[in-house]
Amino acid sequence: MTGGNGFIGSHVVDLLHEQGFDVGIIDIVAPDAEWNGGRRAEQFLCDVATAEAEAIVADYRPSLVFHLAARASVADSIADPFTDANTTMVGLIRMLEGARKAGAHRLIYSSSAAVYGDPTDGLPLAEERPLLPKSPYAVSKLAGELYLEVYAKLYGLGFAALRYANVYGPRQGLTGEGGVVAIFGKGLVTGAPLQLNGDGEHTRDYIFVKDVARANFLAAQSTVSGRFNVSTGVQTSNLELISLLETASGVKAEVRRLPERPGDIRFSALSPDKAERTFGFTAEMPLEVGLSQTLTWMRESGRFG
Ligand SMILES: NC(=O)c1ccc[n+]([C@@H]2O[C@H](COP(=O)([O-])OP(=O)(O)OC[C@H]3O[C@@H](n4cnc5c(N)ncnc54)[C@H](O)[C@@H]3O)[C@@H](O)[C@H]2O)c1
Repeated sequence: MTGGNGFIGSHVVDLLHEQGFDVGIIDIVAPDAEWNGGRRAEQFLCDVATAEAEAIVADYRPSLVFHLAARASVADSIADPFTDANTTMVGLIRMLEGARKAGAHRLIYSSSAAVYGDPTDGLPLAEERPLLPKSPYAVSKLAGELYLEVYAKLYGLGFAALRYANVYGPRQGLTGEGGVVAIFGKGLVTGAPLQLNGDGEHTRDYIFVKDVARANFLAAQSTVSGRFNVSTGVQTSNLELISLLETASGVKAEVRRLPERPGDIRFSALSPDKAERTFGFTAEMPLEVGLSQTLTWMRESGRFG
């Protein structure tokens, strides 16, 4: 597994442990002491885009590779497209080569809703919609999906490219992709005003991180290769999200209105049907319960001031 010390990856590791799997983690940052207490995972502190990382996978001989390491930020990819491409594309090729040499049968890849660009019609988007990436991050993720298809054809390596909608939940940082719940949640936990860009009608498809971990697990059990949305199909506007967070926290938010950010996607939702049909995944966590669990973690972790 790569990126196993990050937000989503750490929940995938938890689930794999619960299911009795041994896990080796390649990550560029050391494991978080709070999340990793008592874990049996073997740690390899290493950049995924290196020959060393490829050799680690080839020697470890996993039957399955979960590849989550990336610089999960659209803004960072625009500021520094070289690092983005190196981590996401070269990193994936290293893992594909490592997996092939190890004789692994399947690679589960973290892709993103960003590959669709920002169509506002025909929501929720199904997988066959045209792909119109709008950032280096999205181009790298899409290139990754194509590499997976090529390795499946060349070497028979099975894969699932999982296009996550907006993931939220405990352990999320403030800077990564789709961090709006963490950002608004921090405001409510610390009593700081919430900065709302635009009219509040922008929508996103929020999916709880433990549902995403379960999608990874189910996709790994399947023998079908392909690209799958990991989503709820439900749109929630920023104003609705703030209201749900207020209810979950019992705190009335002070909202400061800011101008709309140029390039912000207005409406977003991904159809969950293909993942349900193919490997039986459905998101289970009701948004209000997931938000409440997230706020509890934010308060108890003491990381947000
Ligand atoms: N959070 C979301 O809403 C979301 C949405 C769509 C896709 N994704 C994708 O899901 C995956 C996990 O994202 P996350 O939200 O958990 O982000 P995260 O930043 O918490 O986790 C990414 C992990 O990858 C590691 N990493 C980064 N560069 C590395 C490198 N060069 N070598 C080794 N490890 C490296 C980081 O240290 C971190 O532990 C990413 O591929 C991301 O693009 C996330």
